[in-house]
Amino acid sequence: MRIRIKQILEQGVGAGICSFSGWVRSVRSSKEICFIVLNDGSTVDGIQVVAESVLTNFSDICRIGTGAALTVEGCLVESPASGQKWELTARVIEIIGDADASYPLQKKRHSFEYLRSIAHLRPRANTFGAVFRLRSRLAQAVHRFFSENDFLYVHTPIITSSDCEGAGELFHVSTLDVADPPVLDGKPDFTQDFFGQKTGLTVSGQLEGELFALAFGDVYTFGPTFRAENSNTARHASEFWMIEPEMAFATLADDADLAEKFVRYLCRFALEECADDMAFFDRHIENGLIERVSRVADADFVRMEYSEAIARLQRSGASFTYPVEWGLDLQTEHERYMTEQIVGGPAFILNYPKDIKAFYMRQNDDGRTVAAMDLLVPKVGEIIGGSQREERLDRLEKRMEEMGIAKEPLWWYLDSRRWGSCPHAGFGLGFERLVMYLSGMENIRDVIPFPRTPRHCEF
Ligand code: 4AD
Ligand code: MG
Repeated sequence: MRIRIKQILEQGVGAGICSFSGWVRSVRSSKEICFIVLNDGSTVDGIQVVAESVLTNFSDICRIGTGAALTVEGCLVESPASGQKWELTARVIEIIGDADASYPLQKKRHSFEYLRSIAHLRPRANTFGAVFRLRSRLAQAVHRFFSENDFLYVHTPIITSSDCEGAGELFHVSTLDVADPPVLDGKPDFTQDFFGQKTGLTVSGQLEGELFALAFGDVYTFGPTFRAENSNTARHASEFWMIEPEMAFATLADDADLAEKFVRYLCRFALEECADDMAFFDRHIENGLIERVSRVADADFVRMEYSEAIARLQRSGASFTYPVEWGLDLQTEHERYMTEQIVGGPAFILNYPKDIKAFYMRQNDDGRTVAAMDLLVPKVGEIIGGSQREERLDRLEKRMEEMGIAKEPLWWYLDSRRWGSCPHAGFGLGFERLVMYLSGMENIRDVIPFPRTPRHCEF
């Protein structure tokens, strides 16, 4: 079996004669000797391979292009050159897949914008190697955290007939002929559609997650979610991944406790288990990243009432594009000012006005707020949105009526409040926003392999 570069570099000369495969990052050659840097994706570092003219295919090797795939056999030795500890003297080099001068990743540095246009090749660029290794490890850390805390992992549906957030951002799922759908009363007749009703891609697994929490106590779902929201920002994607825990017999304070424990766990995990890639981000993407993440891993997160947040933003004297007023939602500029200038770290904002939040949030006794929480972090803004849920059937029904939400399609959700209802709470962590926060990458399109945003769905 081939051995990975990460392993070879860890073992040093102890690796003995080894054979490995990877892609050429750079080539320098003279008459006598050729230096090839090879990377296989296992680590941000490559191995410098030294090919000497004794190799039978030396002339072919000298002509090899950046991007070509090679298999190399040889021995690791201490490198006389500075900048690297080891190099590998090749005994055999096999050219597996050539690459010519039209390979787009010739230069060391390209803009992220350009790399987005070649998303099929950018995983081979150093920064994206680091991003997608971090993303993969973090996904595993999410499962590890919940497994260690005895949460049940539930696969909530991707195709659904309910719009959890009620924001009308559902992508339709239909097999009707769009050019000529069956029509009833001037509208497409969805009773003739595949599912016999109008369906869409889920915006959140929460409502189904709640049903499982009311059977298993502590559950979580981690899956793709879809929002047909026409916002072209560096923080919004039309397809993104969300982690949604839900706890029975839990309040808003328990919810914030879990969110804090979870985020700190993920920070610590990234620092400890992804140290090489984090060092890369610290060097090339955001100076001081490791210190920033370390501080968060150890910090107590600030908890602030929405009303206080508004008052403090108003008192700050800062000038914002959007108004700051009790009753209005916080915009990214406010969220960032709050965490970057006022708090200097992550902050929970608690108990928002009910009119800017979803129907399912628990109504507070003041009659004007709900038990909602958002976790805001520097640079990214909102990373988590959650709440204690309205577990009282009468209050829930009344709120749905006030908000014009049809009860009939959500009969099963209301049933959960009919038998064995209990206080429960949960939240959603946007996985891409987490990866942005931990890597210092500033655009959501650069932390998801093949981003989907308005008018963009290539690959
Ligand atoms: O605040 P949101 O809309 O909350 C919910 O969906 C709840 N049902 C979650 C729950 O309580 N179980 O979304 C949760 C998080 C946001 O804080 C944000 O991090 C992320 O999901 N998010 C997005 N990430 C990328 N692109 C988008 N368009 C996003 N919309 C939300
Ligand atoms: Mg939200």
